[in-house]
Amino acid sequence: MKILITGGAGFIGSNFARHIIRNRPDWGVTVLDKLTYAGNPANVADLKSYDRFQFVQGDICDPHLMAETIPGHDCIVNFAAETHVDRSLARADDFLRTALIGTNVMLEIVRKHKDIRYIQISTDEVYGSFDIGSATEESPIVPRNPYSASKAGGDLLALSYFKSFGLDVIVTRSSNNFGPFQYPEKVMPLFITNLLEGKPIPLYGDGMNIRDWLFVEDNCTAILLALEEGNAGEVYNIGAGNEIPNIKMTKALLASLGKPESMIRLVEDRPGHDRRYSLESTKIRSMGWEPASTFQDQLASTVSWYQSHEDWWKPLKSGEFKEYYKKMYEERKGYYE
Ligand code: NAD
Ligand code: TYD
Repeated sequence: MKILITGGAGFIGSNFARHIIRNRPDWGVTVLDKLTYAGNPANVADLKSYDRFQFVQGDICDPHLMAETIPGHDCIVNFAAETHVDRSLARADDFLRTALIGTNVMLEIVRKHKDIRYIQISTDEVYGSFDIGSATEESPIVPRNPYSASKAGGDLLALSYFKSFGLDVIVTRSSNNFGPFQYPEKVMPLFITNLLEGKPIPLYGDGMNIRDWLFVEDNCTAILLALEEGNAGEVYNIGAGNEIPNIKMTKALLASLGKPESMIRLVEDRPGHDRRYSLESTKIRSMGWEPASTFQDQLASTVSWYQSHEDWWKPLKSGEFKEYYKKMYEERKGYYE
């Protein structure tokens, strides 16, 4: 078995590559990544010592590179994407390019190699915001920000290649991931690392937006299950059932770091901020998947990972990140200086 993991130097992709190396000792693993600001060779540095691991720097939108790279693999898991909602609100063209053109480039090549299984990694955000109830795999797709609209486009395009051409396509839609190697623009690593640096933490709006927190390793086990046992043309929702308002998640982080609630700053809300994401995940659970441990334990191990990996996140917060934060949040100077 040979697997191609695109976007595999990012947060979830690198955790997934490590998961495969550890749990499928006879599989060959290729990680292909453009190394955007969010892609980091350090995320897969430990995997380079394995003979069955190889890294290719490149863009999934490049048809020549992908036509060279894809043949010889049995499956592709596509994590490659621009992933930060706030950035998509400032400028969405790279989001669309990677999600739509990149996905299309790969599907067109898979059309010529129909024995390849293609997994498109998507998000609960494509179902839009739910004041009550939860999204099933059959719920309408109603994305409400440029990031989720780009993800919906890639996800539906992939499914269209199953319907139109019989490609072996599967889509997973997971809730918010957290864990090691997450770029510190996302709320959990941003808050943990700010607190470790003694900086305040910017909570958007009233702090009552709800996300369902999924530990990245649990997402990896679910994706591998879908890859090995899922049916072509199907969507699999992956939610942990940890629906928590942001203020409560924030207070849990403060408590685990022994920091006071006065570190919280309620700041201007994100435009169009989705109130609540919620997934019905009966389908993947009926295949035997469930989170391996409690949210409390997973949060504690995540906090302790960032505590012991300053060498990983400190350089990230001083480079491109600082420029981005300055541009996006000029008024929040205290949070990056
Ligand atoms: P990330 O931003 O950490 O990683 C994305 C990776 O894709 C980076 O390594 C980047 O360099 C790479 N990339 C971007 N454009 C590329 C291109 N054109 N060609 C090749 N590589 C490219 O994101 P993540 O949080 O790891 O998310 C991975 C996937 O999971 C994304 O598709 C995202 O939409 C989806 N997802 C994420 C979450 C979450 O909570 N993080 C939840 C649900 C779904
Ligand atoms: P984020 O990590 O950006 O993921 P997503 O927007 O894909 O859910 O944000 C998670 C939640 O945290 C979301 O409700 C927005 C909120 N948030 C803050 O309150 N402050 C922040 O600085 C960030 C980045 C997010």
